[in-house]
Amino acid sequence: MKVVAIGGSPRLQGHTNYLIDQALNELASRGVETEKIVLNEHKIGFCQAHLNCASFSECQQKDDACWILEKFRQADGVIIASPVYFGSISAQIKAFMDRSFFIYMHGKRPQAKCAGLIAVAGRGGAEETLKELRKFVRAPDIKVFTIAGYSGRPDADPKNQVELIKQAKDMGRQMADALLGEAVRT
Ligand SMILES: Cc1cc2nc3c(=O)[nH]c(=O)nc-3n(C[C@H](O)[C@H](O)[C@H](O)COP(=O)(O)O)c2cc1C
Repeated sequence: MKVVAIGGSPRLQGHTNYLIDQALNELASRGVETEKIVLNEHKIGFCQAHLNCASFSECQQKDDACWILEKFRQADGVIIASPVYFGSISAQIKAFMDRSFFIYMHGKRPQAKCAGLIAVAGRGGAEETLKELRKFVRAPDIKVFTIAGYSGRPDADPKNQVELIKQAKDMGRQMADALLGEAVRT
């Protein structure tokens, strides 16, 4: 079993990345393989809207979106996490999800049985952003767990966000249960 996390924040020490790590650590402690991919660390071009992209065997843009999408598609569980920018998802997440059009056009749907969605705002808009993230998790029978978080001050330290950390660990536990079955719960 493998969970792939797609991180949409450029701030490696920020809340979004920290909460992803908490959830993944919990999954790993239960024997689930994990991988975090921070989109900002890779080259991901904007979708160029080749609307006939189903006629191409490979996306016409040769960048990192191709291999990341393949990992995203094959994962048993996915985490999609975004900071809230102007009341919505970050540009990194939007660019990546637009590129997922290619796999859908090839009838290659993501395999994930469960998803964790995380949105972190300073003061407002996390719930609205979760609704945006939900659009990228389309399988009808997928189990979805969510966190709408608020960091407060711009210089807030994510390590001090006790409630958010608890929610992220719970998310990891719930995803592990969904993947491995309730029997493994300790
Ligand atoms: C470009 C930009 C736009 C932002 N827009 C909002 C916003 O609309 N609402 C809000 O509450 N916070 C906003 N923020 C603050 C971030 O959501 C907040 O700092 C959050 O903790 C970012 O996640 P991170 O800690 O993972 O970087 C914005 C920050 C940036 C850089």
